[in-house]
Formats: sequence, structure tokens, C-alpha cells
Amino acid sequence: MDDHLQAIDALSYEMRKFPPSAQFVSDASTNDQSLYQEAQLDHEGFWARQARELISWDAPWTTVCEWDLPYAEWFVGGKLNVSFNCLDRHVLAGRGDKVALYWEGEPGDTRVVTYADLLTEVQKFANALKKLGVEKGDRVNIYLPMVPEAAVAMLACARIGAAHSVVFGGFSSQALADRINDAEAKVLITADGGWRRGEVFPLKPQADEAVKMAPSIEHVVVVKRGNNEVPMINGRDHWYHDIVAEADPVCAAEPMDSEQLLFLLYTSGTTGKPKGIMHTTGGYLTHVAYTFKFVFDHKPESDIFWCTADVGWITGHSYIVYGPLANGATQVMYEGVPNFPANDRMWSIIEKYKATIFYTAPTAIRTFMKWGTQEPAKHDLSSLRLIGSVGEPINPEAWMWYQEHIGGGTCPIVDTWWQTETGGIMISPLPGVTVTKPGSATFPLPGVAAELVDEEGGHVSKGGGYLTLTKPWPGMLRGIWGDQQRYRETYWGRFKGRYFAGDGAKLDDDGYLWLLGRVDDVMNVSGHRISTTEVESALVSHPSVAEAAVVGANDATTGQAIIAYVTLRGGLEVDEKVLRDHVATEIGAIAKPKAIFFTPELPKTRSGKIMRRLLRDVAEGRNLGDTTTLADASVVNELQRRAAETPAED
Ligand code: PRX
Repeated sequence: MDDHLQAIDALSYEMRKFPPSAQFVSDASTNDQSLYQEAQLDHEGFWARQARELISWDAPWTTVCEWDLPYAEWFVGGKLNVSFNCLDRHVLAGRGDKVALYWEGEPGDTRVVTYADLLTEVQKFANALKKLGVEKGDRVNIYLPMVPEAAVAMLACARIGAAHSVVFGGFSSQALADRINDAEAKVLITADGGWRRGEVFPLKPQADEAVKMAPSIEHVVVVKRGNNEVPMINGRDHWYHDIVAEADPVCAAEPMDSEQLLFLLYTSGTTGKPKGIMHTTGGYLTHVAYTFKFVFDHKPESDIFWCTADVGWITGHSYIVYGPLANGATQVMYEGVPNFPANDRMWSIIEKYKATIFYTAPTAIRTFMKWGTQEPAKHDLSSLRLIGSVGEPINPEAWMWYQEHIGGGTCPIVDTWWQTETGGIMISPLPGVTVTKPGSATFPLPGVAAELVDEEGGHVSKGGGYLTLTKPWPGMLRGIWGDQQRYRETYWGRFKGRYFAGDGAKLDDDGYLWLLGRVDDVMNVSGHRISTTEVESALVSHPSVAEAAVVGANDATTGQAIIAYVTLRGGLEVDEKVLRDHVATEIGAIAKPKAIFFTPELPKTRSGKIMRRLLRDVAEGRNLGDTTTLADASVVNELQRRAAETPAED
């Protein structure tokens, strides 16, 4: 143990423990240590068994894993088709009438899509894409709202071996053009518009702007959803419903090489240029099928799964499209925002479809807390048996609220840590096995090897450190599109022989992992490294606080000073001093914020991540750079105005 070399001082410890109920344990697909033991004894053998049992192969692999650091190939020589695995095999097994998607539009319109429906639609659209000249190995861009056609488009690409690159519908035309150009995509699939907050937002005009800057695009396919008027360019633009209506309904699923590129998904790094993360076929599908089955304890006969992510993010790729469909799951897919027409929309959807598994993000949970417990209380949520969290560290108070008010006090919570780059869940409880602690993602899953290290790469067995992954895993990224040098440097350059995730974490006395956020979210105050997440958790544990964001601002005396931005729960008021003292009580005087600003909203990206970098700029009085990725830029302008006016307290 390297006590003297702790990378991050872990100051707060959570003592509460929650074992799954006896009933949950006895019903769970796995409820003992056997998966962990099996993976420990034979890492590759373990994954090979998952690949054999969960996936249908057209030709067997010859090598499970070829590892030539930093490049892995999985199930080498094996052949399979992802769309066959997600659709045909369920229909062939007589489950064509099973519902794949209960789709709920924001205005309240609905569609029920069975596996047979989805298979027919995917085959037709795959043929339509072929007719537009899309071939195996091409890239296709997808820029759609949350409509079933988004899944159809992804699966149609997979069926014919074209790689998709989905761009979140909230991104600007410039962002879309940058991504199309980087991928050199041939076809763009978009919609006239989609529904958001009770109104149609136009997408096609943005797509048109992007295509002006993207010479590789030959055709644009337009799904009709918003019914808003859009110009169509003859020869280039095609209505989705027209080309699908004309298409041949049979398109055989061609066997693909296990390492065939399945998709690119762009994610931001420390520089401005987004990285096209590459995922391939056999390993990725195995990873998401396995994690979906075991982390969510999925029961194909009875579960109704709902993941609230957008398909434009990795969570939507892995746990709306590929993981659930590979497992033959029935899901809810929702188009709109959680507060339309009212703050109880999510809970009304759970009640309506009797959802059994609910997977959402901490930022959403904290928003629900802000809206108050009366909202979930209006609905019968007793169908839920498991709830999950993803995307950022969940503070213990949000975890407790989630468990009590959404999970009825009994649902296990799976706090799942992973990244766009990892493809699937890496660190998470197994709900029938793991005793959870509020705020801890607990342990690496069977088949995942994670280790904390200090600055020099030395092993850390207790306390804070940098989270690294030490063995290849099937869903791992295969590189950055067009920039393998950046791939090596970003992920493999910091610690020799290890994948560095960019996150800080700590290990407590019981060996539980606590994610502490990105390492650039770690502050250094008077020589002590303090995680922004820990201070945020302390603030949110005060009964009046709904949400908090903490940044380290340069300070002449202490190196960095802790600046907090706090949103209070509806109708409550509290003195700044009370909160500062509360943090001191929770963590220690060292973690007391120097200043607290109250704000009705925190600045967030459109995907809901708090933009700490902007808050740091505000706290340090800098001019704000690019604010175009903000969901609501006025929030930060107001904070900036107040920061200039308000002297920080001592
Ligand atoms: O910092 C970690 C955080 O989200 C980052 C990955 O972001 P992205 O690629 O957008 O993928 C998000 C959805 C998988 C990670 O480096 N993160 C994700 N899940 C958790 C988390 N931090 C703490 N706890 C989690 N459960």
C-alpha cells in the first residue's frame, strides 16, 4: 500500500450498506461469486463462454483475443451479423410478436413495434440504403430525434456492414458537419423535425446547413416526424417513407468479420477536436449483451426495460439498441423531455407501461429531487424491481432519494461506471450479489480488470488514485478514427501498459470503488487534493440543496479555492454560511467552499453534464470561450454578472 503517495485525499466515507432482498437474490440470474471466480481463473475463457452463449455466430473464431498493446482484436476469424443477432434469431425462435419497442412520442402519440415489425423495416431500409449506393465499409451519418427509425437506421447499417456515426440531435450544424467530414460519410439520415418541450424543433434545416459544408454526402434521407415544412433537393433528398415503401422486404444478413467496424461515436477530449471512437462487431456485441443480461438481471419473459438516454450517446447505442435487442428485450423509448406536459411525465410513463427496470442519469435524479417527491408519489411505480444510474458519480443523497422515492425502498440500484470508449458497463454491482453502498459503483464486473494507481503508476490498494484498466475487454475501443497517434497518447500514454480512463477514484476499507469524477475535476487546496464530487455530495446532503457544482479557482494563498454553485430545492432558502459550515461538518474545514453562489439552474451541456470548465472560467473572472454546447447560455451569463458583483467571503 502506498499511503504516502495517495493521488487523491479521500475525505468522506459512506457507511450505509444495502444488500439485495432475499426475494431478489433468489430470483436473480446470478446470485453468488461464481462469475467472478470463473473470470478470475480464465479471463479469455470467461468472455469466450459469454460470446458462445449470448451470440449466434455464422463461423467460429480461431483466437479469442489477440492483444498487441494498445490494440486488441476479439473473436478473431469469427463471423456474425449484429442485426441478425438483434432481430432475426428472435423471430426465427417464434418471438416475432414480442414487443421490441413501446414508443411514446412527446405529444402523447404512441407506436408499438414488435420484433417482426422491426425486422421487416430494417430489411427494407437496408435495401433502400444499398440502392442509394451504400456499401460495406462505408460510413453513414444519423441525425435523428428519439424515434424508432433511429434504431432501424443503425440496425440497417449493421445489416449491410456500413458503419454508422450517430450525432445527437441537439448538436449544431457545424458540429454535425465536423463529424460528417471526419468520417467522410456518404449518406445522412435525418428528420424534418422532432418534438421537444411541446414544440417541433426543425432538424432538416440544420442538416442542410451541415451538408453544405460536407462534400462527402451524396444522399440525405428524411424521416417525417415533425410534419414541419422542409425543402427537399431533387435527386439528393429522399423521404424515408417513400424509399422504404418501394424497397424489397428481404435483405439477407451478411456474415461480417468479428472486427468489422460497427460504428463511430464522437466524444470530446481535452482538445477541441472531437474523437471518433471506433467500435467493432463481435467483441462489442458480446460485451453489451453480457452486461445487459447480468447488470440489469434481465428476464426476457417479464421485464420492461427503460433507458432514458438519447440514442445519440453511447448509453443509447449500448443499452437502447444493441444490448437490449440482442437479449430480445421489451423496452420503452421516449421522445421528449421529462417535464412535458408536467414534471411527472417519467413517472406516468413507468406506470403506463409497467416498466420493471429504469436506467437514468444522476443529473436527472437531482432534477427530479428538485421538482419534489409529490411528483413520483402521484403514480404507481410498484412495477419497478431494479433501477440504475450512469454518466457521473451519484451523490449518496441522490442515491438515497432515488432508492426511496423511485425504487420504493426495495429496488437494488446499479450505479454503472463506463465510458464511450469502454463500449459497455465496466464497474457496477451485480444486483443479486453485491451489497451496495450509496454513491459507490462497487466493484469491476466479472471479466473486467481495474486497478487504482498513484502518480507514478504504483499500485494503490486503499484511498485515492487514478482508475486504470489492466486487461483488454471485448467492448473496448479499437482506436480513434483517423488518429491512432492520439489514441495511443490519450489512453495508453500516461501509465505504461495500462488504459487510463481519465477518472479519479478511491478504494474504501471494504475494497469498494468510489468514482471521483474526471481528474481535471480534482482540486488542490493547500496541497490537499479534494474531489469536486465529494464537496458536491456534502452540499447536496443538506436538506435544502437540490444540486451543486464545485470548481477549483486559482487562489494566491491556497493554490486553488473551492467555489460552489448551488441550486436549492423548490421554495427553500438557506444562508451561505450554513452551507459552508455544513460542508466543514461533513468533510472537514479544508473542504469548506470559499464562496457559494445560488442559482436557479446550473449550466449544462445538452446531454446534461454540468460544465465545470465554464464555471471555473466564471469563478476566475475569465472571458468565456465557446458556450455553444450549453443547453441554456443565459444561466452562465447571469452567474458571470453576479460573480463580478459579489465579493467572495472568507
Ligand atoms: O467520468 C466518468 C463519467 O462519465 C465519463 C464517460 O463519459 P461518456 O463517455 O460520455 O459516457 C457516459 C455514459 C457511459 C467517465 O469517464 N461516468 C460515467 N458513469 C459514471 C461516471 N462517473 C461516476 N460514476 C458513474 N457511474
